[in-house]
Amino acid sequence: MKTAHMLKHGIAVCAMLMACAISTEVHAQAGVPTSGATGDRDHMTTGEAQDRVTDEIKSYNDFTSGGPKYVEISAKDEVAQMGAGVSVIAGWDGYWNGGSTKFKLSQIRKIKEAGFTTIRIPLSTFDKSAMHMDAQGHLDPKYLHKLDAVVDAAISAKLFVIIDEHDYDTCSKDADACAAILPNVWYELSDHYKNAPNSVMFELLNEPHDKIDAATWNSWIPDLLAIVRQTNPTRNVIVGPTHWNSSADLPLLQLPADKHIIVTFHYYEPMTFTHQGATWVGPEIEKERGEFHWTGTPDQMAKLNGDFDKIADWAKANDRPILLGEYGTYAKYSAMDDRVAWTRAVSKAAADRGFARIAWEFAEGPDGFTLYDPDKNEWVEPIKDAVLLK
Ligand code: BGC
Repeated sequence: MKTAHMLKHGIAVCAMLMACAISTEVHAQAGVPTSGATGDRDHMTTGEAQDRVTDEIKSYNDFTSGGPKYVEISAKDEVAQMGAGVSVIAGWDGYWNGGSTKFKLSQIRKIKEAGFTTIRIPLSTFDKSAMHMDAQGHLDPKYLHKLDAVVDAAISAKLFVIIDEHDYDTCSKDADACAAILPNVWYELSDHYKNAPNSVMFELLNEPHDKIDAATWNSWIPDLLAIVRQTNPTRNVIVGPTHWNSSADLPLLQLPADKHIIVTFHYYEPMTFTHQGATWVGPEIEKERGEFHWTGTPDQMAKLNGDFDKIADWAKANDRPILLGEYGTYAKYSAMDDRVAWTRAVSKAAADRGFARIAWEFAEGPDGFTLYDPDKNEWVEPIKDAVLLK
């Protein structure tokens, strides 16, 4: 196991780092600016910078005084209540860095009013074009305020909310660089939300794959969890298997004894159907454009139910509750009837086995998976209803 120490608040935190402090070299590898971009903080010691950050960011509790307090809930009870959800405002949306966005906070209430019970917020803290950390590894207070606004809106709408670390591409390309940053992200996020109600959950990392193989991931999980547990001893934390959270890798997943863990998997089978025409999953699937139909034939249903039965068996044998954390169909080429049939069948397969479910994605636009059209201000009704099983 890669274990070393990370210096935070003057306390040595055992984490999966290769060095005892966050080195500027590692930051540079991962694309974190090491000078210039962060202004005065570059010239501060970690302690001084932390004091300033603490001044700038109130802990979550300070601005929700009077709101719901944290009360322990078992992972199983929480999954039983999470029902159907949707991922919102992907990390690369303009909302996070002041760019153009179609997201409005009022959409969170619309999600609740439509009948959803959970939202998942995929964060790119150090991925894609976004960079929300300074050279000392502190999250930008402005970024946290934006996240707070969404979390607050979800809490007031009485939605469960998953804070999902979605830097999976960067992490899977360079595991060492990721290992130098990810613990720090969780140190900051978990400290910030330590007083949030139990409806707020943490997802350690979306879809680990490639350089994050099962051995690496299994060695990281206890360390990341230990960081979260310093400030959130019983909050429910979401963890999934390797190979893009594939259920086929569930048998490889090794979890600590901690009972406040929800196990997640993603389901997009068959990929040739759900991702047909998509540019990011390889030429074979990209060239498939409208030819692959999914109508729920006996063979298709048998494959789906077989896959979900295996997951339910694993859950029973390992005594863990399950969240289907992503599922959906790329809208551009598949026939609407097929998309609805597949979405409804997968929603039902999850609900029948007591899994909570989260659709990908709320309002990505015509070149996405898309449940809601922000221009027309209306839902893609058949897909929304198929997720909600209405
Ligand atoms: C990725 C998206 C992608 C979706 C379906 C998500 O985890 O972040 O970019 O569209 O999976 O492939």
